[in-house]
Amino acid sequence: MADSRETAQPAAFVTGWPIKHSRSPIIHRYWLKQYGLAGSYEPVAVAEQDFANFIESLKDGTSGFRGGNVTIPHKEAAFRLADCPDDLAEEIGATNTLWVEDGRIHATNTDGYGFATNLDDFHPGWDRAGRAVILGAGGASRAVIQAVRDRGIGEIHVVNRTFSRAQELADRFGAKVHAHALPALSEVMAGAGLFINTTSLGMDGEDSAIIDFSGLRTGALVTDIVYVPLETPILRQAREQGFATADGLGMLLHQAAPGFEKWFGRRPVVDERLRAMIVDDIQAAP
Ligand code: ATR
Repeated sequence: MADSRETAQPAAFVTGWPIKHSRSPIIHRYWLKQYGLAGSYEPVAVAEQDFANFIESLKDGTSGFRGGNVTIPHKEAAFRLADCPDDLAEEIGATNTLWVEDGRIHATNTDGYGFATNLDDFHPGWDRAGRAVILGAGGASRAVIQAVRDRGIGEIHVVNRTFSRAQELADRFGAKVHAHALPALSEVMAGAGLFINTTSLGMDGEDSAIIDFSGLRTGALVTDIVYVPLETPILRQAREQGFATADGLGMLLHQAAPGFEKWFGRRPVVDERLRAMIVDDIQAAP
């Protein structure tokens, strides 16, 4: 932090608890180097009880940071403490991207943008799915529901183990969003053109979640926001049943771009080399 004040270079952070597994520093440092920009991006571990102080130091300028990313478990607290959350953050009730302007903390949520832009890259036309099924109703599900709805998909079915959480999201995101408990999964999958897993099922290769995708419409896309492993058991099953798949890594890469532009002044491009670097990092230390 001191470095950034002494040299007056723009400095940004990613904060969470723990934070050492975050891949955001690799992404932002890659872009700083690629574009020859002066600036820094550093991980800052902040425990929950210290988070309000961290935000205060951002606001009063003593931290030296221009802004940064926020990850688990601080996304909701950062939203509550921000002075100016935008409409996206407001609806989700959580933020992953902060920046300071005139001593006020601005907040947005770029996870939905990351989700949609990744699919635009690899599966253009994904938003003509007609009916989408979203498995899970946790924090990560909210940005996905928002993105899918805002891209005009007319019928969105949120299926969750705990029905009340799915209902809460249906209430929050409007009439196009319908809530279901798990037993309804195969019924709502019938004829859907898009299936999104937002649960932790299949993380770290856990093989407990085999879903039958055969009811999806021909040409449907199955995607997972989990990216460790890159091909989750859910994606493998979908591929073996003949469906197109998209892994979760692109969402991570694209959600980073708007923040980088805010702090460092240039819109970065997600390219193959960056993706390959993160893939290597995941393979070295999943
Ligand atoms: P995140 O912020 O990553 O979305 P979360 O808020 O803890 O994390 O939500 C995790 C999601 O995965 C929830 O939808 C959860 O279902 P519940 O709301 O019923 O807890 C879902 N989930 C986790 N483990 C699951 C399992 N073994 N079977 C089905 N759903 C599971």
